[in-house]
Amino acid sequence: MNNYRQDFPMLKHDYIYFNNASTSLKPKCVIEAISDYYNNYSVNTNRGVDSLGFKVTEKFESVRQLVADFIGSNSEEVIFTRGTTESLNLVASSFGNMIINEGDEIVISVVEHHSNLLPWQELCNKLGASLVFVPIKEDGTVDPEELKKVMTKRTKIVALNHISNVMGGINNLLELSKVVHQFDAYFVVDGAQGIVHEKVNVHDLDIDFYAFSSHKMYGPMGVGVLYGKKELLDMMPPVMFGGEMVDVVHNDIATYKQTPYKFEAGTMMVPEVIGLGAAIEYINQVDQTKMNAHVKELRKYLIDKLINEISDIEIYNKDAIDSSLITFNIKNIHAHDVASVLDKEKIIVRAGHHCAQLCMSNLEVASTIRISLAFYNTFEECDKVVEVLKKAGDYIDVLFK
Ligand SMILES: Cc1ncc(COP(=O)(O)O)c(C=O)c1O
Repeated sequence: MNNYRQDFPMLKHDYIYFNNASTSLKPKCVIEAISDYYNNYSVNTNRGVDSLGFKVTEKFESVRQLVADFIGSNSEEVIFTRGTTESLNLVASSFGNMIINEGDEIVISVVEHHSNLLPWQELCNKLGASLVFVPIKEDGTVDPEELKKVMTKRTKIVALNHISNVMGGINNLLELSKVVHQFDAYFVVDGAQGIVHEKVNVHDLDIDFYAFSSHKMYGPMGVGVLYGKKELLDMMPPVMFGGEMVDVVHNDIATYKQTPYKFEAGTMMVPEVIGLGAAIEYINQVDQTKMNAHVKELRKYLIDKLINEISDIEIYNKDAIDSSLITFNIKNIHAHDVASVLDKEKIIVRAGHHCAQLCMSNLEVASTIRISLAFYNTFEECDKVVEVLKKAGDYIDVLFK
C-alpha cells in the first residue's frame, strides 16, 4: 500500500495523519478532476441546451451511476446532498415528518453521531413521538436480539450508524434490517464511516436509507449522498424548493420532478460531484478489499503496541477488532494535552467528544483521543505515535512547569 502514498499531495508535508475518520486526504486524481472542470467545462448542469451544458450534465449524471454501482442501487435512488448531515436531515424532515405520529417511537443508540441524533430528537419533540435507546455492546454495535427487545408496534424508524465514529464496531446491517422489517419499521443507516471501511450493497442489505459524505472517502468536501429505496423516495415530499426541481409552475401551485431531482433544488455542487466520481474510480482502482485489509492489519499492530508499551493508557474500544480506529485516554492527562503533544511531532489525531456527547457520557469521560487509520498509513507511523505517547507524561510536565 506504501506505493499509493505518492498519490496524496498532503503526505509530502511530513505529517502523520491519523484523523481519517474526521476527513480523509484527497488523491491527486480528485484534485485534478475538480481543476479540470474549472479549467475546461465550468458551466451549470441541466440549464443549457449548448454542448458545454450537455457535457457537464452528462458527466454529473455519470457520477450518479458510479455511486449507484458502488453501493448496489439504481441511479434514481441516489440523491446528491452536502453530506451525511444533510442526508439524515432530509430523511427526518421529509420521510420522518410524513410517517411519524404522536406516540410513535424512533429507535437509535447512544453512540450515534449528533447528525444521527439531533434530527430525530427535533422530529420527536415536534410531533410528540419518543426516542428509544437500544443498548449497545462494548464495541458500539447493536445486537439484533437486543434490538428485538426494544421494538414495539409503535416503532416506525430505526436509525443506526454502520460504524460508530468513536467505538469503531461494525454493525451487522443485514441482521438488523431483518429485525427492523419484521416490525414493519424503516431502517435508516448513517454510513459516514461505513462507506469507507466496508463494502456496501444497499439492496442486498435491504436498507431503506443510507447516508454518507464524500470527504471521508477520499473525495471533496461539500457533497454527500442519500440513498433511498425508490418507492419511499417517490412518496416523499421535497423539503427545499426552487430552480430545477420543478415540473410545471402555476400561480398558486407547482408540480415537481421525479426523484432524485425533486430533492436537488438550485445549483448543485457540480465540481464536488465530479470529484466524488474521481474518488470512487480511485477506490475501485486500488481495490477497497485490499485497502480495508491493510487498515485492519495496521489497527491490530498499533493496538497491540499501545497495550504492551503504554502503561497508562485506557483504551475504550479494544473489542472492536475489525475497526479502523482506536479511542483512548492517557490516565490523568487531558485528551487535548495529549493531542497537542502529538501535534508538536506533526502527528494529527482527534481529541474531544467527537460530536457524540451521549457516547462520552456512556463512557463516563468528557473527551477522548482517537487515532483513525487509512490505507495510506504505515507501520512506521504507528511506531512513531507509540514512541511519542510513551513520552507524553514527561512532555506535559515540562509544558506546565
Ligand atoms: C458517524 C458519523 N455520522 C455523521 C457524520 C457527519 O458527517 P458530515 O459532517 O460529513 O455531514 C460523521 C462525521 O464525522 C460521522 O462520523
